[in-house]
Amino acid sequence: MPARPYIEYRDVHVVYSNGVKGLDGVSLQIQRGEFVFFVGETGAGKSTLLKLLSREEHHCEGEVRLDGQELSDFSEYNLHRLRRQMGVAPQDYDLLPNKTVWENVAYALRAVGRSRREVFDRVPKILLQVNVAHRADAFPSQLSGGEKQRVVIGRALINEPPLLLADEPTGNLDAAQSEEIMRLLADLNARGTTVLVASHDLPTMEKFSKRIVCLERGKIKEDLGG
Ligand SMILES: Nc1ncnc2c1ncn2[C@@H]1O[C@H](COP(=O)(O)OP(=O)(O)O)[C@@H](O)[C@H]1O
Ligand SMILES: [Mg+2]
Repeated sequence: MPARPYIEYRDVHVVYSNGVKGLDGVSLQIQRGEFVFFVGETGAGKSTLLKLLSREEHHCEGEVRLDGQELSDFSEYNLHRLRRQMGVAPQDYDLLPNKTVWENVAYALRAVGRSRREVFDRVPKILLQVNVAHRADAFPSQLSGGEKQRVVIGRALINEPPLLLADEPTGNLDAAQSEEIMRLLADLNARGTTVLVASHDLPTMEKFSKRIVCLERGKIKEDLGG
């Protein structure tokens, strides 16, 4: 018998309040440890697919399950329990401009209730993990686009999550920096993290032989195994 999928979407429809269809009957299974790219043009539904998992968006119809648990069963009250299981690197996330790289990550750790001691222990490890330790004292305005994105990914790793959601992590990067970011995500995946990446950067994706789910107007058009 096949293992229960880690993530499962069952006939999911999302209709936004303005009547726009975000997703139009998506069914998809993802196993633990997979690396999946969601590809499609702007408006195809990539962010909606990720936001359903982090419950930033509630679906109207169908089911979304994580590790067997139906996500609509999580009340607002215990959403933090759900979010501890995942790291989210959102689309267009801005780092706090008046805080250094070190402080940006420390701030995120403090925000989830870690002690000062844990912060001092974890921040250097996270910065090393995403390869920005040498930029710890720099402010966001002093970083390259690729470095900024590394810090955003670092912020998403504060809870050592088994699942990482990255929305357009290479949005504003040139080809070389994009490839570096994807390599970082692939490394995290190789060490066991399930990674879902929304992107329209097909040339970069094609260099990594990973599963690619193509979305078009809220529907899955193709699902190409890695
Ligand atoms: N909060 C929202 N309110 C209304 N429409 C939205 C909202 N978020 C997304 N949409 C619409 O839903 C569709 C899918 O959006 P999205 O998931 O953000 O696509 P993508 O990430 O692939 O660009 C688009 O038509 C978009 O305009
Ligand atoms: Mg998007």
